[in-house]
Amino acid sequence: MSEHAIEVTVNGNRHAARVEARTGLGEFLRDALGYTGTHLACEHGVCGACTVMIDGQAMRSCLMLAVQADGAEVTTIEGLAAADGTLHPVQQALKDNFGLQCGFCTPGVAITMACVTRDCAGAQGPDVEAALTAAMSGHICRCTGYQGIRRAIRQLAGAGTEAAA
Ligand code: FES
Ligand code: FES
Repeated sequence: MSEHAIEVTVNGNRHAARVEARTGLGEFLRDALGYTGTHLACEHGVCGACTVMIDGQAMRSCLMLAVQADGAEVTTIEGLAAADGTLHPVQQALKDNFGLQCGFCTPGVAITMACVTRDCAGAQGPDVEAALTAAMSGHICRCTGYQGIRRAIRQLAGAGTEAAA
């Protein structure tokens, strides 16, 4: 199997590696670089658990090869919080509203929410809520029934939180 030299920046850290042409990006992030917050489940682009930011866009890492990320800036869930440990607003909203249980889907959910809230910067209210809700159609959560996630979305949209059920 042919190998390729790649350089990827993950959460601000530059990594040089040699990878087989067939190595998936999610597999590379987890197994070669140790960013195990990126979860692999369906590996068919359906569940959203493997979502990471590639050059600012939310992407399914199970549908990309590591070689395709050569030269890219990748953000995984490990890179979402500030350097001092302050949670990203989407992480805080999920925490505040019981938007996770087992947490398996949560890294992908949080990365997608972070991209949507960034794209909606300066906006507030129903449009933001609608954009975040639509984006969640790409994420399967088997635990929460989505109610906590929806409360987190309302908090992020500036509509206030509901009391947790
Ligand atoms: S593991 Fe990538 S979408 Fe499910
Ligand atoms: S919190 Fe368990 S799958 Fe979403």
